[in-house]
Amino acid sequence: MSTGYEAEWWRSAVIYQVYPRSFADGNGDGTGDLAGVRSRLGYLRDLGVDAIWFTPWYVSPLADGGYDVADYRAIDPQFGTLAEAEALIAEARELGIRTIVDVVPNHVSDEHPWFRAALAAGPGSPERERFWFRPGRGEGGAELPTRWVSDFQGTTWTRTTNPDGTPGEWYLHLFAPSQPDLNWDHPDVRREHEEILRFWFDRGAAGIRIDSAALLVKDPELPEVPEHPGPGEHPHVDRDALHDVYRSWRAVADSYDEPRVLVGEVWLPDTARFTRFLRPDEMHTAFNFDFMARPWDAKALRESVTTTLDAHAPVGAPATWVLSNHDVTRPVTRYGRQDSSFAFTAKRFGTPTDLVTGLRRARAAALLVAALPGALYVYQGDELGLPEVEDLPLDVIQDPMHDRSGGVDPGRDGCRVPLPWTRAGSAFGFGPDGGSAPWLPQPASWGDLSVEAQDGDPASTLSLYRRTLAARRAEPALHGGAFRWLDAVGEAAVGDDVLAFARGDGAARDDALVCVVNLGPEPVALPGGARVLLHSGDPREALDQVPTDVAVWFRP
Ligand code: NOJ
Repeated sequence: MSTGYEAEWWRSAVIYQVYPRSFADGNGDGTGDLAGVRSRLGYLRDLGVDAIWFTPWYVSPLADGGYDVADYRAIDPQFGTLAEAEALIAEARELGIRTIVDVVPNHVSDEHPWFRAALAAGPGSPERERFWFRPGRGEGGAELPTRWVSDFQGTTWTRTTNPDGTPGEWYLHLFAPSQPDLNWDHPDVRREHEEILRFWFDRGAAGIRIDSAALLVKDPELPEVPEHPGPGEHPHVDRDALHDVYRSWRAVADSYDEPRVLVGEVWLPDTARFTRFLRPDEMHTAFNFDFMARPWDAKALRESVTTTLDAHAPVGAPATWVLSNHDVTRPVTRYGRQDSSFAFTAKRFGTPTDLVTGLRRARAAALLVAALPGALYVYQGDELGLPEVEDLPLDVIQDPMHDRSGGVDPGRDGCRVPLPWTRAGSAFGFGPDGGSAPWLPQPASWGDLSVEAQDGDPASTLSLYRRTLAARRAEPALHGGAFRWLDAVGEAAVGDDVLAFARGDGAARDDALVCVVNLGPEPVALPGGARVLLHSGDPREALDQVPTDVAVWFRP
């Protein structure tokens, strides 16, 4: 591996997302923890990942799964200690795995000392200036300061109560009421976050994932949202002043001998506005949700790949490819539906799903994204082909999205169910045998999807992921940015239902690697002499044509 590749490891890295609460439970209390992750680092090395992104592990009431942080410099006791986090970061690095921590700058928990101080100090106090406290409108201040709609549905303001018991000011929360938004015009807020970055970088974190990265800055006048806001005109999304924040973070990241990496969670439909965050002095990469949200449809996926690559090229940033994360419906389930696109607003109980088709497509999708230029994200459990758990008892669902929808939206807990590691045993090896039940119940059938069950089976999804990530690492053609769509595979023209592209320099044909994904009903013939490296079907079956919903990598 050349030094250049190593220094810019994030350009083509495979980054595995660990949701600590649900990965592995070391102490048997039913909640995943850092001890559990440390005991499974060998699994991640063998899977072939370059880095782990941990969703928040900080002290938190877990009102939003940890995205409600009460102390950014301490680990929640349910997960472990700071010393364990330090040991974990070091041990992973020994195995060649870097660590990305999740920073949540838009809001804090209502149990954060700043928010408590703000409530206690009362209206007009400097403590309140770190947040967005406002008097209500109308008589007695009983009406909301704005009609902004929360990302978790409902309103974005909650009224406080004064110490004498009278109704007080309102405070802003783009998410749940227990997640008050910070005021990014306040110097304390900016200083504090730069210190948080240094705190984790000094402990060996190779980078940060930036939560809700396009929401931090608000129009201080707090106007209503215009009907059709132009670029930069929305009062709380994608404000131009955000870029100053990330430029100063980039300076912090670049001040380390091994520069640290900024990965943004940027949900913006406008790709040109999206890639502004990836200019050379801002973030390194950001999640490509456009691709993730597309249906299993060749035209839609082709368009997304092209738009993504075209938009990233001018800023010199690599694309990222994401099939899922802890917020969205698992691919096996999503791709098994008639409408296989993803939208938060469309999630409903009882949507008909064909999991056999879904799994077949999710496996093909894994090969597709692993062959595209850029960084690749794998959400824990996708390598096992886990489906979304759609029949969680209502009383165990904790996600605020469920409650705030009035119970209509199942919420996001269905993709957060603890992983099965063994065929049998209580909690399928998620925790020690005889430990407490997992914080969310696992389906009885999950022993068959466990790591143990899939381990030695060449046809398993786990084996497919291992082969794919190993081949991706070994293939120089996949490391650079070279990519071209193919009009023909061998002599045959590529139909509308098929994705076919070549990676690698292409000057020497032998070096090129071709990926074909068949999303149509008819099989696609492989050219004579094609040397198949991998395909997403059963590896014991040789391929001379690509069946429906199968992807193949071959050398022409
Ligand atoms: C995005 C996170 O991925 C999600 O889980 C969280 O609820 C919101 N940001 C708010 O922090």
